[in-house]
Amino acid sequence: MTADTPPVFEADFAAQFDTLLRWRRDVRHFLPTPIADADLRALLETAALAPSVGNAQPWRFVRVRSAGLRKDLADHVDALNAHAAAEQPDNDRQAKYRTLKLHGLREAPEIIAVFSDEAPIAGHTLGRTTMHETLRYSTVMAIHTLWLAARLRGIGLGWVSILDPAAVATMLDVPRDWTLIAVLCLGYPEHPSTIPELERRDWQHREPVADRIIER
Ligand SMILES: Cc1cc2nc3c(=O)[nH]c(=O)nc-3n(C[C@H](O)[C@H](O)[C@H](O)COP(=O)(O)O)c2cc1C
Repeated sequence: MTADTPPVFEADFAAQFDTLLRWRRDVRHFLPTPIADADLRALLETAALAPSVGNAQPWRFVRVRSAGLRKDLADHVDALNAHAAAEQPDNDRQAKYRTLKLHGLREAPEIIAVFSDEAPIAGHTLGRTTMHETLRYSTVMAIHTLWLAARLRGIGLGWVSILDPAAVATMLDVPRDWTLIAVLCLGYPEHPSTIPELERRDWQHREPVADRIIER
């Protein structure tokens, strides 16, 4: 196969791809099994196949190796999570919120913070002059690609957003032009499931997509 000969995707592959999408989960409960370095590298290589505005490839990955930084991150998220719980509208919701596990930062074998470069040289500003935020959208595309590539290998990913992005950027000492998009926990899931955890915990069920479509 050459670079100009598109592959034909067979029905079996299409069915498997659909299964992959249905089994992609946000994971917060991890086994201690480490992720092999080669697998992690392969995941990031695959993430970088994502589309990006002007081909700017603005994604920047910070692999958090330091136990001290991991603890700081987990403490930070726990503190903001306590505030988020208190902001729930009534006592019942607050109590239920507090039973949810919303990150696996203390136990996930790998933590990757994903930033978006707000001023990448690559792309030469093409496509982002009127919608600068397309750089961040591009980085989100890479995260979703990473998410699927991980699940394909049996690796779970959990997106953590209960944090102050500027505080995390300072903590991780990244360049000033980088905006935090996500902190990701990666590892082998303890309870693989086809049903989202928030649905299993009766917090929020999936709703029919028909309710999300309008016509003009
Ligand atoms: C932008 C974004 C931010 C998220 N932040 C969190 C988070 O802070 N904590 C958490 O437990 N899950 C977080 N999630 C995961 C969602 O709760 C999850 O995707 C949703 O419940 C559907 O479940 P599923 O991903 O397993 O299908 C986030 C997901 C996205 C896309």
